[in-house]
Amino acid sequence: MTYRAAGKDIQALVRTSLAIRRGEFVSLLGPSGCGKTTLLRIVAGLQAPSSGRVSVAGIPVSRPQTEMGIVFQTPILLEWFDVLGNVMLRQDPRPAGRAAAMRRASALLAQVGLAGCEGMRPSQLSGGMQQRVALCRALLHDPSVLLMDEPFGALDALTRDQMCLDLQKLWTGGEKTVLFVTHDIGEAVFLSDRVLVMAPSPGRVDVAIDIDLPRPRRLSSRDTEAFFHACRTIRQAFERRGVLRDDAAAS
Ligand SMILES: Nc1ncnc2c1ncn2[C@@H]1O[C@H](COP(=O)(O)OP(=O)(O)OP(=O)(O)O)[C@@H](O)[C@H]1O
Ligand SMILES: [Mg+2]
Repeated sequence: MTYRAAGKDIQALVRTSLAIRRGEFVSLLGPSGCGKTTLLRIVAGLQAPSSGRVSVAGIPVSRPQTEMGIVFQTPILLEWFDVLGNVMLRQDPRPAGRAAAMRRASALLAQVGLAGCEGMRPSQLSGGMQQRVALCRALLHDPSVLLMDEPFGALDALTRDQMCLDLQKLWTGGEKTVLFVTHDIGEAVFLSDRVLVMAPSPGRVDVAIDIDLPRPRRLSSRDTEAFFHACRTIRQAFERRGVLRDDAAAS
């Protein structure tokens, strides 16, 4: 993917080739500007690549797909709708199917701890609650693929931990394929079957690391040797590329 801005070509992604299995949880992990959002938007069909192609279940992606749910870094809720209205935003307004969609929306809200919040406005919710509403909206049509762009980036560390647990529960229940963008090593290891470590200038997938921790993962999984080992392997990949520099260690 090459962008053109201010008369210059910006190579956001060089030759990138990857295959994701049905039901797999894959994270794209890398520093700011390495092309994570670009890659996610191309997979979502929100943006055409300069060259190359993406296919989902064998079908080429050329525009946004209904079988994909997308969660962005900020929840993007509409203040003039209540919580239920925001979850139902992409639902056909005609009566057929609406009652079933409402039941599903309420069930999803309950699953992420928002039972009873259906009538609240976005501004009456905390940031974590708003992001949960955005997650429910992405899941309303039971998409087979879930694309998430740093969905928990703006949340405090404790809320983030809870969101990771909630997401794992939703994922394990539904056999969904998830592509998850983050720059948090621990978050990527906790959630993923595989972490694609990206490098910048030009953006590319540098190394793929399988995360072989038993599921379901618990908060205590993070205290295990296997978890430390996976985090260390990823950190070392960043150090090798100069993305992380520990000058004290070198002297
Ligand atoms: N619409 C655009 N026009 C021109 N350049 C762009 C555009 N969008 C992104 N870029 C450039 O492409 C590169 C990758 O951007 P991208 O947003 O994919 O990075 P990222 O890994 O998601 O970063 P972050 O972690 O900060 O969100 C950057 O150099 C950015 O400046
Ligand atoms: Mg981004």
